[in-house]
Amino acid sequence: MAGNRTFTMIKPDAVENGHIGAILAKINEAGFRIVAMEMTALSRKDAEAFYAVHAERPFFGELVEYMTSGPIVAAILEKDNAVADFRTLIGATNPAEAAEGTIRKLYATSIAANAVHGSDSDENAAIEGNFFFAQRSRH
Ligand code: TYD
Repeated sequence: MAGNRTFTMIKPDAVENGHIGAILAKINEAGFRIVAMEMTALSRKDAEAFYAVHAERPFFGELVEYMTSGPIVAAILEKDNAVADFRTLIGATNPAEAAEGTIRKLYATSIAANAVHGSDSDENAAIEGNFFFAQRSRH
């Protein structure tokens, strides 16, 4: 029986800094199976829609700017307890506060450019996975 799923993006700073391979290796070593993956780029409209929940936050403009600054890798990952275990693997939002050995501690440059995204609930994992891998007609 397959485990449940989460959604991730390797963000522009980590792609630009050459960390795709290392991050995917850590994901596999932690027991996640990659069930879908695509290297792509977010349009402004995509980034605003993906982060709509943060639209009123002071960092929203910077976040959209950053997420559209270069290519990203989007993927759906499968494992028992995928959402919580992946949040543990990536570490705190602010890399300065992330635990040793976590992906953000190792590869993030700042709180905004924090290397990876990880869904925060099963519901959002499904919505976010569908955003990239089921709704190809959105453009
Ligand atoms: P959030 O959902 O709070 O964090 P996480 O990605 O750990 O679930 O915020 C979404 C993204 O917004 C976060 O990854 C980076 C950016 N962000 C900032 O640029 N500044 C901030 O102060 C916060 C809280 C987030």
